[in-house]
Amino acid sequence: MTITTIPAQLTEAELKLLQALIYQECGMHFDERRTHFLQDRLQRRLKECQLDSFYSYYRLLISQNGKEELANLLENLTINETSFFRNKAQLELFHKQILEEVIQKKHASGDYTLRFWSAGCSTGQEPYTIAMLVVDALAYFQMRNPNSYDLPLPKPLVPAPWKVEILASDISYSALRAGQQGIYPDHQMNSVDYSYRLRYFDKVGERYAIKKSVRELVHFDFHNLKTEFLPQRNDVIFCRNVMMYFDEAEQKRLVEKFWRCIVPGGYLLVGHAESLLGLTDKFVMVHHNNGTAYQQVEAGK
Ligand SMILES: C[S@@+](CC[C@H](N)C(=O)[O-])C[C@H]1O[C@@H](n2cnc3c(N)ncnc32)[C@H](O)[C@@H]1O
Repeated sequence: MTITTIPAQLTEAELKLLQALIYQECGMHFDERRTHFLQDRLQRRLKECQLDSFYSYYRLLISQNGKEELANLLENLTINETSFFRNKAQLELFHKQILEEVIQKKHASGDYTLRFWSAGCSTGQEPYTIAMLVVDALAYFQMRNPNSYDLPLPKPLVPAPWKVEILASDISYSALRAGQQGIYPDHQMNSVDYSYRLRYFDKVGERYAIKKSVRELVHFDFHNLKTEFLPQRNDVIFCRNVMMYFDEAEQKRLVEKFWRCIVPGGYLLVGHAESLLGLTDKFVMVHHNNGTAYQQVEAGK
């Protein structure tokens, strides 16, 4: 005898309840174009939890015991697509113009700590790209501005007296774990040219592992961008291809929070298909070739 299970039907009311809960928890907004995806993921979770109605599933999510399942659901709803050196024109602007300016400014003020935040870092390719670019920019700066600090051998990746802190955050625990590991298959290395592969990766079997010295510059941590308390005093925030999943109201709230998390005159970099136009007047756009970024306008200016 074969037992056929009839998939539970998701009613309009249940869909609305679940959509509102997800929005409240992480800011992700599922409009009509993405309802099918949401339904599919909900159906999978329902099966996994062996529940027979979406209302029972909703009740589980809002219960004291539902915290773990809520994290599982959010994990299943995130799109983790990413790559090394994504949006080359923007990275060129970051490397050649923004980093140069930030490093000069810090040097002039005698503050040698550089802070970057990859908000919505997925599996780590973005924060490691930032690390490689920052290390190169510092080496080039140091070459032009030699100082009297002793040069220990072997030369450290980050020259004294500089300190580089790169925070990589996400709401997906599995993405954070993969980032922490920092090991990538060959097909994800297409956008990494050979000079970067040689200097910053070790070959482990068929895969490429980020060198320990680069990995140590990046700290992976869970941060939900929906919450009020976010990491402060960043020189540059990368939040690329994340806001596109939020509605306008949530995007506005997030940009306002970012404004407070960036040092005066620091920068915010968003994805190629994203823009701050119409969301705020507290940032001004800067661009070079096809790359764009937003500079924080200091309060009172
Ligand atoms: C498409 S990936 C972008 C990765 C990388 N920034 C890039 O551009 O290549 C979007 C990431 O944002 C994360 N994300 C979505 N909502 C979030 C939230 N509320 N808080 C933190 N991260 C979130 C997802 O888990 C996912 O890893």
